[in-house]
Parts: sequence; C-alpha cells; structure tokens
Amino acid sequence: MLRPILCMRGEEAAQLFYGGDDVTRVGSIPWTVLRLLQDKNSVQQLEGEMHRQRKAMLVHLAMNDGAVAALVERFRQRWLAHFGDRETGHSDLREVANLILTKASADWIGIPERCRDDRRLAESLARMIDNTGRPGPSACLALISRRRTERWLVSIVEAVRDDSLDLGEDRVLKTICLLYRDADGRALSTEAAAVELLNLLRPIAAISRWIVFLGLALARSSDWHERFRDGHEEEIEGFVEEGRRLYPFFPFVGARLRKDLVWREHALGKDDWLLLDLYGTTHDPRLFPQPATFNPERGLSWRNGDFRFVPQGGGRPETSHRCPGEKITVEILKETVKLVCRSRPARITPADADIPLGSIPASPVPPISITPADAAAYGQPDVIAARPRK
Ligand code: HEM
Repeated sequence: MLRPILCMRGEEAAQLFYGGDDVTRVGSIPWTVLRLLQDKNSVQQLEGEMHRQRKAMLVHLAMNDGAVAALVERFRQRWLAHFGDRETGHSDLREVANLILTKASADWIGIPERCRDDRRLAESLARMIDNTGRPGPSACLALISRRRTERWLVSIVEAVRDDSLDLGEDRVLKTICLLYRDADGRALSTEAAAVELLNLLRPIAAISRWIVFLGLALARSSDWHERFRDGHEEEIEGFVEEGRRLYPFFPFVGARLRKDLVWREHALGKDDWLLLDLYGTTHDPRLFPQPATFNPERGLSWRNGDFRFVPQGGGRPETSHRCPGEKITVEILKETVKLVCRSRPARITPADADIPLGSIPASPVPPISITPADAAAYGQPDVIAARPRK
C-alpha cells in the first residue's frame, strides 16, 4: 500500500486494539476490503457512544440464548433436509455449508422465502468473503454483487417500514428496521439498516469456512470422530475452540492511532497505521505451547473475553470491536460436529489437504468434500448403519 505499517502480535498488542480507545478502525483498511466486509455506516466504523449503542443491539440480537438456539435449530433442520435426501452424494463441503447457513440465517432474520433467491444470495455472500484479500477483477465482480445484494436488502427494509411485509413473530428484521434507535435518537437510515442486515447474513455464511476446517480436523483424526459419535458431548466445545485457534481464517485486523503514544518503548504517532496479527497471536508459543499441535484439551473459550485467544478479536464484545458472532459461530460448529459424526456418518476427504497461507482467507487445497455414508436410519442418532472412515 506504499505506507509504513506496524505489524504487531501477542497479548499486549491485542490489548491495544481491544482494551481501550487509543485506536480507531476508521481509515484502517483499504476501501475495497471495507466495502466487501463491514462497510461505511456499519458498527465497525463507529466510535464512542454511537458504537456502544449500535453494538449493544447487535450483541443482544446475536448473543442471547434464545436467538442463538433458534438459529442453530434452523441450521440443523436445513442440514438434515439437505443430507436426508437419498440423492445427495459427494459435495464440496464449503459450498454446501455456505448454502445451508445462508438459508438458515435468512429465515432467522425473518426475510420471507418468497422474497429471496437463496442460491444466488449464497453465491453473492461467498464472493464477498472469498475476495476480501484479492484485489483485481474478481474483487470488482464481488463489489458489483455486493451492491446488488445491498439494493435487494434496501427493498426489504423499505417493505418492512411501509408495512407491506408481514413480519410475523418478533425477528431480527423488526429490531433493525423498526425498533432500534442510534445514540443520537434516530432510526437507522435505510442504507445503514441494509448494511447491518448484511453484516449478519455475510459472516454467518462465512462460518462455512470454519466448518471446512473442523471437517478437516475430524478427517485427520478418526479417534475424535468415533469419540463424538459415541457421545462425549462435553468435549465438543474444546474441539471446536481448538479448531478456531489452529486454523487460519481472518488473519489480521487494522487500526489507526488516535493520538501520539509510547507503546513498549516505541514512540508511535497519531494516525500511524497498525495491523494486529490474529493468526500470529493464536500461534504465539508464549501463549500456546506447541502451537502447531491440535490439542482440544487446552481449555480455550470465547467466554473468557481475554486478549490471547483472539480468532475473532479480543476483550469484551459489549465494549470493544470484538466480534459479537462468536457464540453463534461456536454453537453452529458444535452442531456441525454432531451432525457429521452422528446423524448420517459422513466421509470427509482428503485428510491430507494442504492449507496455503498465502491466500486470504485461507482454505484447504484441494477443496474438502463430504460424502454421506449410506445410513439406512438417517436422522436417528442411535442407529448408525455405517462407520466413519478409519
Ligand atoms: C465466520 C467467522 C467469523 C470470523 C472469523 C469473524 C471475525 C471477526 C473479527 C476478527 C472481528 C473484529 C474486527 C475488528 O477488530 O475490527 C469481527 C467483528 C465483527 N463481527 Fe465477526 N467474525 C465471524 C463471525 C461473525 C458472525 C457469525 C457475526 C454475526 C452474527 C459477526 C458479526 C461481526 C460484527 C457486526 C463485527 C463488528 C463489531 C464491532 O466493530 O464492534 N461475525 N468479526
């Protein structure tokens, strides 16, 4: 980018990014990335009281137990419907998971099926995520596709506001479009409401990338696969959390200093550009001994709100820019492990796929496939007709 940048990693660095107000996200990432991810007008670009209030709404929507359970249930039903079809054979795990998550999240948000084209929406969301770290023609196509998705969401917001869309129960759509007020007392503009809806749809679909990595972890260890097939419910979370630590996804976040500062004997100036290496922090041997080893017994949890285990940011989500979607992410991943190991045993291949770190976001090469084994009593967790691959 032809500008000096200070790359940092570790606990103290994460504290600088998430523990106070010395840095801002405004002007911290190239505009193409900003447009494909959070966007202007979004919570991530707000500071102070405006951020606190908008964030409180998102934390409420994405972290309350009932809402998370409702989303996970929709995901489970959609997964069972997809893999319950006897015709379903070999599929690309990322594509299938992306489509299932898109359908589940659109239902959960409250967008009626008749107003959506799920396949097209899933493709568009995947394009935004795939192209975040790839400047060039494909990023331009992703930007066009984002613009189209935003226009569609604007039409949904307008329909809610002029009462031409029946919302039924109390859903996310209602809160964002009708009930919520920013710290200045105003409702979200139509565009900002569309952006925040997209900020739920897109990252929920992006959980498909973690699903692929967790699938790979299961494929690499038949012991864990069999363990979860037979129960051991209480160990699934540790497995999922270690997957989020080990596998690369969102490798870094940017920020700019709001004032001159001496940080660990470095004199830094206002507006200096900083990058926090999230992947480097979750692989820092000072924090995680033998960081390259997959060890689900490390006792990691997003609930600790610390500055060490930071795959989706550090500190408290209520008071910082930490991701409000971690609870959803972890619960969806736990459900996936149960679905893959129990409901209809599936083979996930190839176990020896490579994960090149040169692309952002990273993904296994060759892509990971899922092939349901032929289970006669699909949907009955206690009746397993085929054993997972050894
Ligand atoms: C798919 C896995 C996910 C990853 C890897 C991820 C990663 C992150 C990271 C690293 C941040 C911090 C950005 C910063 O510090 O500037 C963040 C923020 C955010 N994430 Fe996630 N996220 C994921 C899932 C989700 C989900 C499921 C949701 C919604 C339910 C979500 C909504 C958000 C929002 C709204 C923010 C901005 C928060 C703020 O600025 O206060 N993310 N995410």
